[in-house]
Amino acid sequence: MDGNGRWAKERGKLRVFGHENGVEAVRKTVENCAKLKIDFLTLYAFSTENWKRPKLEVQTLMRLLVSSLQKELKTLHKNNIRLNAIGTIDYLPPKAAQELREVIENTKENTGLTLTLALSYGSREELKTAIKAISAKVKNNLISEDDIDEKLINTHLYTHDLPDVDLLIRTSGEHRISNFLLWQIAYAELYFIDVFWPDFREQHLVDAIINYQNRERRFGKTSEQLS
Ligand code: IPE
Ligand code: MG
Repeated sequence: MDGNGRWAKERGKLRVFGHENGVEAVRKTVENCAKLKIDFLTLYAFSTENWKRPKLEVQTLMRLLVSSLQKELKTLHKNNIRLNAIGTIDYLPPKAAQELREVIENTKENTGLTLTLALSYGSREELKTAIKAISAKVKNNLISEDDIDEKLINTHLYTHDLPDVDLLIRTSGEHRISNFLLWQIAYAELYFIDVFWPDFREQHLVDAIINYQNRERRFGKTSEQLS
């Protein structure tokens, strides 16, 4: 979800105004994904690098997180959505971390869309943490070096209970991955759209999905092998 700041700047407003309007786009997109019977939606809400932003902006983002979690619990239940989070959640302000854990606990029995918020998330940090955990297991003879395969690595990632990414959408016209799910997007289809996040609507989501449906995912094979 990119472009909140530029969206606000275009209107002569402060960046926080963009974030406030970005929240509405999140709400709509989550509901639309539930309506479209999508099983997994992961939103890159705050990166490990975003901590370097001005303090006021970080505070605003955390405040918006808390208020959204409080406000949207009912909507999550109504749409049968299970909340999940990836990232160094312990680094969040205590109130935000607590609210997040409560909503995750509260919605864990829901069986529809799994909505994952990437918060204080960085793919390199995730991989570093996984490598450390695996190394410790080898060192303590809990596993041997030969046990390390892709499946074992997967189980040590924050995304251990999520499938690989099928479709990655980045808004705002930037063509970058910015440290998001590097391992998990190995064979994802990438879709870049020149719309700032607060303007992202149902039609943009539908367009992205239709575009995705018209791609041929070969996973290294030839086209002939697929048919
Ligand atoms: C995305 O919008 C929201 C977050 C990263 C939290 P930006 O804040 O990155 O907006 P731009 O890229 O400066 O326009
Ligand atoms: Mg940005």
